[in-house]
Amino acid sequence: MANSENSRKMNAIVMHEYGNSDVLKYEEVNVPEIKADEILIRVEYASVNPYDWKIREGYAKSYLQLRLPAILGIDAAGTVEEVGDKVNKFKAGDKVFCRADFTRGGSYAEYIAVGERQVAHAPRSVPLRETAGLPVVAGTAWSALFEVANLRRGQRVLITGASGGVGSVAVQLAKNAGAYVIGTTSGKNTDFVKSLGADEVVDYTTGNFSERIDPVDVVFDTVGGDTLAKSYELVKKGGVLVTSAGQPDDELAHKHGISAKGLMVSTDGKRLEEIAALVDAGKLHIHVDKEYPLSDIKAAHDFSQSGRARGKIIVRVQ
Ligand SMILES: NC(=O)c1ccc[n+]([C@@H]2O[C@H](COP(=O)([O-])OP(=O)(O)OC[C@H]3O[C@@H](n4cnc5c(N)ncnc54)[C@H](OP(=O)(O)O)[C@@H]3O)[C@@H](O)[C@H]2O)c1
Repeated sequence: MANSENSRKMNAIVMHEYGNSDVLKYEEVNVPEIKADEILIRVEYASVNPYDWKIREGYAKSYLQLRLPAILGIDAAGTVEEVGDKVNKFKAGDKVFCRADFTRGGSYAEYIAVGERQVAHAPRSVPLRETAGLPVVAGTAWSALFEVANLRRGQRVLITGASGGVGSVAVQLAKNAGAYVIGTTSGKNTDFVKSLGADEVVDYTTGNFSERIDPVDVVFDTVGGDTLAKSYELVKKGGVLVTSAGQPDDELAHKHGISAKGLMVSTDGKRLEEIAALVDAGKLHIHVDKEYPLSDIKAAHDFSQSGRARGKIIVRVQ
């Protein structure tokens, strides 16, 4: 962070070492400086994604070079504070949302500097509190369903983990696209997943879910592990399995005559504008499960790590 600082101060959650949620420290740091094509955003809300605590624990060390100390947090919603000389799409005061680059300075901070192309105007019809839950999960669900699986009207799709951040958005996007949607979740979340538009909801806690689902054209797995392993046999020959939570097994895919794919999501401002339009059209909602103040980020991470979030965990930054 040393080369891109100015003397103004802000509060942020700083991670000096890898470890459990105790490594997240509330500290005062310098406000980042923007380059000519960047925007300084006053972050009002962030959200927690499982990736945040996976990075914190060090699971991504093998492929992610994170310079410590670091400020985590990808999702951000807030107000444009300042724009660089070459920025023309945004002006001070605009309400915006984006994916922050946490390798440079993430959204668990009162200000972030982000490239103009990563930023979008916030939906007008919902508060920034909900908007902050969108970038990672909506970008991921969109990419999985439409870019990787090429989901089409009339197809049958199974979404595992349908009550989670990614799953709850995926159910809505798949339904909007005219698919027949089946979701898995536990009994306490069945009504919630139905309310998102799922045609069938299967409670994974009352036996083997895979024995209760007829073949589908597409599986979007957001759970991984045993759930992913059991999903191959549910895909019709020629169909697609895409997972956000594990490594696809090419041998198993070949055995079942399907393709199995992982995800590399990069959600830019243009995609976020499309997502905002869906929200403003009333076709996509973010359900906020819990909200935490920035100073309580440790509890927010612990709750995410419990794997029990319904929809999104939101962080009130200021
Ligand atoms: N590759 C990428 O770019 C990318 C992007 C985003 C997310 N991801 C990954 O995708 C996964 C999902 O992310 P997320 O944000 O949706 O997580 P999340 O919000 O933490 O998911 C929690 C939800 O999962 C449900 N769940 C847990 N175990 C389940 C099971 N065995 N069967 C069905 N549902 C189950 C829970 O419902 P119950 O409480 O009812 O069990 C809960 O509602 C994570 O591993 C995340 O790291 C990857």
